Amino acid sequence: MLIICVGKTHAQKKNIRQPKWWKEAVVYQIYPRSFKDSDGDGIGDLKGIISKLDYLKSLGIDAVWLNPIFSSPNDDNGYDISDYRSIMKEFGTMKDFDALLKGLHQRNIKLVLDMVLNHSSDEHEWFKQAKQSRTNPYHNYYHWWPEEKGKPTPRYSFFDVNNDAWKYDAITKSYYLHYFSQKQPDLNWENEKLRNEIYNMMKFWLDKGIDGLRMDAFQYVSKDTTWKKYPEGYEKNIINYYGMGPNLHHYLKEMNKEVMSKYNVMTVAEGAGSTLEDAHALVDEDRHELNMAYHFEIMDIGNDPKGYLLTDLKKAFTKWETSFADKGWLAVFLANHDVPRMVSKYGNDSPEFRQASSKLLTTLIMTMRGTPFYFNGDELGMSNIKFDQIEDYRDIATINAHKNAVLKKKNLKTFMAKQQFISRDNTRTPFQWDNTANAGFSSGTPWIKVNPNYKSVNAFAEEKDPNSVLTYFKRIVAFRKETPTLMYGNYQAYDLENPDVYCYTRTDEKESLLVLLNFSSKEINYHIDQKINTTAAAPAINNYTESPSKKNNNIKLMPWQAVVYKLNKH
Ligand code: NOJ
Repeated sequence: MLIICVGKTHAQKKNIRQPKWWKEAVVYQIYPRSFKDSDGDGIGDLKGIISKLDYLKSLGIDAVWLNPIFSSPNDDNGYDISDYRSIMKEFGTMKDFDALLKGLHQRNIKLVLDMVLNHSSDEHEWFKQAKQSRTNPYHNYYHWWPEEKGKPTPRYSFFDVNNDAWKYDAITKSYYLHYFSQKQPDLNWENEKLRNEIYNMMKFWLDKGIDGLRMDAFQYVSKDTTWKKYPEGYEKNIINYYGMGPNLHHYLKEMNKEVMSKYNVMTVAEGAGSTLEDAHALVDEDRHELNMAYHFEIMDIGNDPKGYLLTDLKKAFTKWETSFADKGWLAVFLANHDVPRMVSKYGNDSPEFRQASSKLLTTLIMTMRGTPFYFNGDELGMSNIKFDQIEDYRDIATINAHKNAVLKKKNLKTFMAKQQFISRDNTRTPFQWDNTANAGFSSGTPWIKVNPNYKSVNAFAEEKDPNSVLTYFKRIVAFRKETPTLMYGNYQAYDLENPDVYCYTRTDEKESLLVLLNFSSKEINYHIDQKINTTAAAPAINNYTESPSKKNNNIKLMPWQAVVYKLNKH
């Protein structure tokens, strides 16, 4: 019999419904430097994480992603690796790592490591060798521009004080390339020997039993080595120029064949190119490259202290959801170590609304299709620290941007105000465990100041409070775990032009859920689209203690109220 499928093919539909552990997992990101210090040096460490394994278990999460834990001089907090096969001194030893992995696995929690493969540290042995001479066997592990060719074609560096990505080296009389800081030279992926060294290093960790890899800045690894000139102002659209280089897919397919295909692990790319097509090309299952990616479109919304339009956020989520409805898989997140605290950026961190808006944002993340990536501390409703002097900042991005602002005589008041809102240090302050000194993070002096709100915003207090942000987080994670519709069900958004309320349904053959999120600090009388039949609606999740008053499809939503209704049950 010939069956003709209209619209989506059967194969496409099957693709997204194919259950995989990494599609069902809630991933919890730990910034190790700031999580828990066990030895009083003011820096979080692996033993610290081990001492909090039961806390991790209590959250109900399935996997932990650790920011880089490998040896590093810490120019960029571990994103500058000097030895890929050993543990950073401040964080502990390989024995500690093995114990951590074991402890996580005993609690049924998987471990994802951060692979920084676009660049190494300038203190890596490869680079030390590379700059000894042009004929050194490691010279070609990096990108060089010999001085006899004149000045290199300009390339933009994210962290360099002058945003110049070429640094001159007097011994080899050549410039080397660094998209990030001068201490983060870019690796030359054109070199097959380097690629093989990297694949072997990845196998070293996978053979230890880790469960996943986060691929840092991977969309940048393939460079156009003809070094053509880019047009004026290209840096404002940098991913168009640096992302998805000519050989990226070749490298990914090779890496998949050599490494990933041999293990049942999760792989996630940081960055997804510039278009939906770029993202699909990275993660669609039939491409055999990566499992999922996180795109930057949501992160690019809300970077202006004046605020953002909810309609932009809704449209961005809807655009990506729709494009990935049948094929491919995405990571869902609102914060990580590179952006401000989610409540300060997308919610309202004033004492009045911090808790409700934190819970609402958590609801959004946990009711979207895609794998939730949740940043440590957000489950407590931690907010931006908003340092007002440059001396308090630790992040190279802020420190060098400040030097640049001084050099270019920019308005420093405006610069500092912006940093209070967007600096990465806002999410890097120590985890707030309790109301004792240093929030229970360390018995020494923390490497970065603790947010003074730790007296009330802390895990100890929130564990005992049935209405805390933390208790709500645990409840909604458990709800997601028992509701496959939230993982795999279709997403349908309504009323996209409404400036205050985000309304969508998640539906599969078993059930249908309605999500209503009031993204404003005022009460809203909201009319739910008539197409949604709410007669049998039963509230399943609510971030307020009282049920919202609802008559037919009219509902009164309190400021920052989030509700999830089960519309029917079979
Ligand atoms: C992305 C990482 O998330 C960020 O923290 C880091 O600074 C850059 N890549 C460079 O590795």
